[in-house]
Amino acid sequence: MDKIWRYTPQSGFTNKNAGFSMWCFGTYQDKEFFIKQFLSPKYPAQDKESSPEKIAKKRKECAAFEQRQKRLYATLAEHSDGNDVSILAFFRVSSRYYIVTEKIEALPWTVETVAALDESEKRRLCAIIAHAIAALHKGRLVHSDIKHDNILYTHTESGQVTAKIIDFDGGFLESDPPSMEDGVTGDTNYFSPEVCARAYGEERPLTTGLDIFALGILFHQYFSGELPDYDRENASCPGEAVLQGSSLHLSESLPEDVSALIGKMLSQDPQARPTAQEVFEALRPYHPDEEFSAFGDFDEAIRLLGSRGAADDAEDAATPLRSASPDGGTSPFYIPGDL
Ligand SMILES: Nc1ncnc2c1ncn2[C@@H]1O[C@H](COP(=O)(O)OP(=O)(O)O)[C@@H](O)[C@H]1O
Ligand SMILES: [Mg+2]
Repeated sequence: MDKIWRYTPQSGFTNKNAGFSMWCFGTYQDKEFFIKQFLSPKYPAQDKESSPEKIAKKRKECAAFEQRQKRLYATLAEHSDGNDVSILAFFRVSSRYYIVTEKIEALPWTVETVAALDESEKRRLCAIIAHAIAALHKGRLVHSDIKHDNILYTHTESGQVTAKIIDFDGGFLESDPPSMEDGVTGDTNYFSPEVCARAYGEERPLTTGLDIFALGILFHQYFSGELPDYDRENASCPGEAVLQGSSLHLSESLPEDVSALIGKMLSQDPQARPTAQEVFEALRPYHPDEEFSAFGDFDEAIRLLGSRGAADDAEDAATPLRSASPDGGTSPFYIPGDL
């Protein structure tokens, strides 16, 4: 199979569990990585059919996309607690953009799998997730697509299960939120009231608070197996019901303290929701000895990809790093530790 820059795909691309991407695993120097191809934007080819103005406009959009993603990925790498899966490379080959991350040996866990665990284990996993989100929020990075499909469960070396947060590509920095035009994509079941307000043409600030609402929905699913109940006749998702001023009905099966915590996380006013750090601290006392940071794999991958070994120098000479390559070829934009 043809290489994608340095990486040899191990199969064709698939869209399994994906939203706006295609992905596969690929190897580089005998190590396997996750490779994701963006469906948009596409870098315009210099063809005869498009007008120069159209091409120039698309290139400008692509340049803005590259800038935004680079800042996002650098902030992610700086703040991740090791369970936020950081981006190891961001590049373009011809018209397509790609990112590379470490490969997670993910367990085939569904919401029902987590819901069937004992309560103490749920608290431990939810605390790991809250800790990872709190780390991002310290960098004012909003994930903006928190949901079960974007949490991967995997075994640590000691044989325990841990949670990894993936799919930051639709995220944003609080200082640079998506415009009304760009909108917010994701699973509507996890949309916060302020995101839902946009559907009515009402612009409310988008902050880290929207992740807390999504986390509240996710934790409700984990502790009870279901979404919180809401007025389905008048609202299409929980966030819309809250926006309309009706409260959500939380499951009776939730432990009392968890129910109170989730209730606050699902407040209409983002300021009334607890921070991710407060959510973490509420769950942590049950697991005082847990390690909540895990950096081993990322550091190892950075050593492999970030350092310029002899083998790399030969390859980079063939496709010069940071070449403008406007019409095809390979352009790496981001490699952590290399900016
Ligand atoms: N690092 C990884 N290791 C293993 N599988 C992954 C990894 N990242 C993503 N996946 C799988 O690929 C799917 C799509 O990736 P994701 O980043 O969520 O793309 P999308 O933005 O299209 O949702 C995930 O739901 C998961 O099943
Ligand atoms: Mg996803």
